[in-house]
Order: sequence, then structure tokens, then C-alpha cells
Amino acid sequence: MDPDELTQLADRYGTDKGTRARTAHNYTPHYHRYLSERRADVGAVLEIGIGKSDVPGLAAPSLKMWRDYFPQARIDGIDIRDRSMVLEDRIETFVLDAGDPIAWYGFLTGRSYDLIIDDGSHRVDHQLITLAACFHALNPGGIYIVEDLVPADGTPQPIDGTTHVGPAPSRYNRTGTAMVTEAVLQRFVDGGELPSEFLGPNDRLYLEANIASVEIIAGAWWPKTAVLVKKDACI
Ligand SMILES: C[S@@+](CC[C@H](N)C(=O)[O-])C[C@H]1O[C@@H](n2cnc3c(N)ncnc32)[C@H](O)[C@@H]1O
Repeated sequence: MDPDELTQLADRYGTDKGTRARTAHNYTPHYHRYLSERRADVGAVLEIGIGKSDVPGLAAPSLKMWRDYFPQARIDGIDIRDRSMVLEDRIETFVLDAGDPIAWYGFLTGRSYDLIIDDGSHRVDHQLITLAACFHALNPGGIYIVEDLVPADGTPQPIDGTTHVGPAPSRYNRTGTAMVTEAVLQRFVDGGELPSEFLGPNDRLYLEANIASVEIIAGAWWPKTAVLVKKDACI
């Protein structure tokens, strides 16, 4: 069977969200399941983490994937490094540190999105700060994705006998003691709560009231991805 259209685009542009890049995660078949019915309706996408290539033709593979997949959408990309060499139709790039809540406040004022993907530093504190900031800017019924979750059991595991064991979780969990993002999201799945030192009380209340569902999905090797759906009627 041919891969779905999102996976074909991922593999054509070389993002590791697909199935063919060197460290491919196999996330796109799951995303296609959520997004295929919305393709014509998505008007704005935000992705945090544009990618490392400084070669214009190879830069920003996932932004190009989203642009081709959603024919009507404007695609905004955020990176801590300047990726402004990506001057493509319907794609705009911005420099921002996703771990800085004040920078988020300034950037998001007046902006809203139908789909937000966090593929930035993968640090636990950054993932939760970004979730708190950006979920307000997600339109009702929108989709929010957090990629490359550190495993909640603390140990990166090779899957299916492969030897591809990732970097130590401590690299992504700078406090050492904080509950990792996967465990925080699992608490929502289990009981509707999001306990984290990186979520302020108001942000936590807002998230708990407005998240409709969370699915935590295993990738091709140890990192997982999570797909959050926002309620249609938000408080
Ligand atoms: C895994 S790459 C993104 C890959 C791309 N989304 C793709 O699918 O091909 C991660 C990116 O996050 C950026 N990044 C790292 N820390 C960041 C931060 N604090 N804020 C924003 N971007 C950050 C890096 O510069 C890098 O370009």
C-alpha cells in the first residue's frame, strides 16, 4: 500500500517526521489520521523548530510539507536560530526562544492557528512553557502536537531490537526532578489533571478546561509524540 499523502510529502522533503529520513520517527501516518479531513479548512499552522540545514533548497522540510498538505494555509515557523533564508510561498519564519514566555506573549498577540507543532528543543520545561503559551492561540477544535517526548519511565529504550538508543533523558530534563511531559500528559489521560511546575495555575486551569483529548503515540524508536485536540467550545 502506498504511504498516505502527508508521509509522502515528509519523505520527499526529508523531515524525520516521516518514514525514510535517517532517524525517521514514523509520526506522519498518525498525523494524517487526525488531519486528512481538515486539509481544505486549515488556514494557519505554527511549527516550533524549523531544522538545521542552512542550504535553502534543503531547509525547513516540515514547513514545506505542511504548506503542500494544506492548500489554503499560511505556515509560520519559529526557531531560536535565524532561518529567514526560507523564503517560500506561504511560509514565514521568525526568531524566538520557545523557552521564553514573554517572547511568546509578544509573538502570539493577534495570531491564531488551526494546527501547532512543537518540534523545537524537546526540553521538558520548553515543551510545557510552549504548551501554556500557545494553547491560548489554538483555534477551537484545533490540533496541538508535542514531538519527541522523553519516556516517562526515564529510560530511552531501543525498539524492535534496533540499537538506536537516544541521548540521555537528562539532556531534555534540565531540572532532573521535574515530571517529564509524557507523564504530565498521561495524568491528563488518566484523570484530567496536568500537574507540572512549568505550568502556572491559570494556564493549568485553562488547559484542563479546554483540552478535549490527548493521545500519546509511540514512534519508530524511543521518542513518542502526543496529539492534543482542543474542545470545539472553549472557555
Ligand atoms: C528537530 S529540529 C526541527 C526539525 C523540523 N521540524 C523537521 O521536521 O524537519 C529542532 C529545531 O529546534 C530549534 N530549537 C532548539 N531550541 C530552540 C528553542 N529554545 N526555541 C526555538 N527553537 C529551538 C533548533 O535550532 C532546530 O532547528
